Amino acid sequence: MTFLRNAWYPAAWSADLGDAPMELTMLDQFIVLFRGEGGQPKALHDACPHRFAPLSRGKSRNGRIVCGYHGLEFDGAGRCVHNPHGHGATVSALRVRAFPVAERYGMLWIWMGAEGGEESHPLPDLPLFDDPGLTWVHGQLDVRVHYELVTDNLLDLTHVEFLHPFLASPGNAARTHYRCEQMGDEVRSVYTIRDEPVTGLFQLLWPDTPERANMVADIVWQAPARLSLKTSMGRGESAAGNDPQLVVMHLLVPQGENATRYFWAAGRNSAKDSEQVSAMLHQGTQNAFEFEDEPMIAAVRSRMRSNDLMAHKPAILPFDEGAIRARRILARMLGRELAEQASG
Ligand code: FES
Ligand SMILES: [Fe+2]
Repeated sequence: MTFLRNAWYPAAWSADLGDAPMELTMLDQFIVLFRGEGGQPKALHDACPHRFAPLSRGKSRNGRIVCGYHGLEFDGAGRCVHNPHGHGATVSALRVRAFPVAERYGMLWIWMGAEGGEESHPLPDLPLFDDPGLTWVHGQLDVRVHYELVTDNLLDLTHVEFLHPFLASPGNAARTHYRCEQMGDEVRSVYTIRDEPVTGLFQLLWPDTPERANMVADIVWQAPARLSLKTSMGRGESAAGNDPQLVVMHLLVPQGENATRYFWAAGRNSAKDSEQVSAMLHQGTQNAFEFEDEPMIAAVRSRMRSNDLMAHKPAILPFDEGAIRARRILARMLGRELAEQASG
């Protein structure tokens, strides 16, 4: 399995975890997320140690989760703390694995790696989420492919003209200047287009929209699969702070070998109080991923019949550099993690 285990993965938007337990699959593991004592988010392996009923089918009550099959209760640390049968003996074998959970950027993050490893791995640093000048909408969807194929799609913005015509003007690809750089284990792709007709999306965000402007789209990838895209349109040679900006965060979670949960959030620095713009941005972003990107990536996968892209000897075009670099970095990190597991 090509998953990096020693990492924090987003599990859910915090606001989406209410009183009911939430069932998740992450890195081929079944996980139940629920509110423990004081409402603190907790994550356990989603299989009761008695007969392996999914705990997510039970209820959370008083900070515990109650198995829906025979009623054993577990606390947020995975200890069995109540047995409703006979004399109520709880035995040490009745224990489920607990995963560390943290809350940041309005999301719940789960540490999927070795026990105790979370201490030396800080939560992901996504400073755009903390920008007080941005108003956000967010969503999520499930994609039926390996997460690296989704990363490939996101690191290549040249597909926009063809797959999302509403977001680009005709002939855009020919006018785009592309550059890629690597900063340690991060990859950055920058696309600039001078004197570009302002797209329908930016007309929404820009009062007194000019007909043409310079556009910069700047996307940064961090392993295993976090991407921050900042797009701005302005009159200057490079993006200025007060130009209309649209930031889209893409956070990918491998559910299994051919399944990815895809969280996205779109922030803007203009038309910030407009609920109409929020609704349109939400629907437009969700629809683009769900009805344009996802079917194409799934169709690509159907022709590849496997996830080993390089084994298929794809034709490499210059703008593929970012995706290729990200794949190499991830492969190196995966190799290192496997070697550590083998030696440790
Ligand atoms: S399967 Fe959970 S209590 Fe029996
Ligand atoms: Fe796309």
